[in-house]
Amino acid sequence: MKIGISKISFFVPKYYLSLATLAEARGADPLKYTNGLLQNKMAVAPINQDIVSMAANAASNILTEEDKKDIDLVLFATESGIDHSKAAATNLAQLLNLKSEIRAIELKQACYSATIALYFAKGHILQNPNSKVLVVGSDIARYGLETDGEPTQGAGAVAMLITKKPKILVLENTYAFNTSNIYDFWRPVTMDYALVDGHFSNEQYKAFFKTTFEKYQEKSGLTLADFKAMTFHIPYTKIGLRSLQTIAKLSTHPELFKNFEYSTTYNKEVGNIYTGSLYLSLISLLENGKLKSKDRIGMFSYGSGAVAEFFSGILVPGYKKHLVKDIHKQILKNRQKLTFNAYAKMLTDIPKNDVLVEYEDDQTFQLVEISDYERKYMKKA
Ligand code: CAA
Repeated sequence: MKIGISKISFFVPKYYLSLATLAEARGADPLKYTNGLLQNKMAVAPINQDIVSMAANAASNILTEEDKKDIDLVLFATESGIDHSKAAATNLAQLLNLKSEIRAIELKQACYSATIALYFAKGHILQNPNSKVLVVGSDIARYGLETDGEPTQGAGAVAMLITKKPKILVLENTYAFNTSNIYDFWRPVTMDYALVDGHFSNEQYKAFFKTTFEKYQEKSGLTLADFKAMTFHIPYTKIGLRSLQTIAKLSTHPELFKNFEYSTTYNKEVGNIYTGSLYLSLISLLENGKLKSKDRIGMFSYGSGAVAEFFSGILVPGYKKHLVKDIHKQILKNRQKLTFNAYAKMLTDIPKNDVLVEYEDDQTFQLVEISDYERKYMKKA
């Protein structure tokens, strides 16, 4: 049975900081961010957008009433959890008005967990061929003010509908994975901001890519020549490019490099969205690139700490018809640029309890209140 992605969409908050503004405030050369990291902007979440509202906004771009009836499993990938116990998937299911006869769970392993969610979704559909699974990755990447990681922050969510006979991408059955207990990036439960050993994390990312891509080739019998595009987890674009350069040369594989550009068009404007980052890159490739049906796409998922996986998908004939490119263009176009001071306030304004949020903007789903540590959301009529 072929199983894979039938629908896919992202949501990002409507505010962003230009990295040129950040460079000016930090006395840094703006070229370090635009050419050194290959990033232009980063999305910043206001107080009324948390991981649940962002996930609901992403999912509502693609789900029909029929999908909602057929979904019986919600897998919520995040490393920005809002509760140590309760899964954000339960809040999401209610906000989306899903039926109660579903399973709903939250998954954590840094930026990797949306990838295992796809694997779990496949296993579920193998046992229940008529079911549809909603997979979301939703995160707010905060390193904090005046940290090395500051230019690599971001916020956003990706939602995917996984079914049999997929309309966009068939997930192939070869997976190469690796786990190692390291501290390259982590966030202890008492902390709002991530801890990171930046240069170590870069080295680990590249080493895991080498290991998993080699293993994938060994397991599948495929080689680089079998791929039309390689997509990566994109904490910032340069690290994806550097990784691609370890397996391909521009002179011999120009198509892979062109497709890498397409696959990072959106990520450059959004920054790191952790669990959704690889899938934002996939959307960017599909919507901006010129891939044909049956083309194979490689996917490298990396979650610090660390678990990594290399896997692949084959494009379905007519896949372009099932993309929601216009919605995504609108989301990016309608954003507002922040001043440095507005960014600094927004980044550090992290709601905990006894918060009443003004219903102030035009986003469909918003957080409106936290009282007695219960979160309440609103859907714009
Ligand atoms: N003009 C042009 N380029 C410049 C420049 C200038 N004036 N100044 C520096 N550069 C270039 C450097 O040469 C370097 O490029 P290369 O990688 O091609 O050599 C690039 O800009 C970055 O420079 P530095 O390494 O000196 O930058 P830094 O010390 O400030 O650290 C960072 C960069 C490690 C990415 C840091 O921002 C960070 O810690 N970020 C968070 C961690 C992270 O994203 N890690 C990625 C792997 S872990 C992961 O993937 C999980 C996750 O989501 C976090």
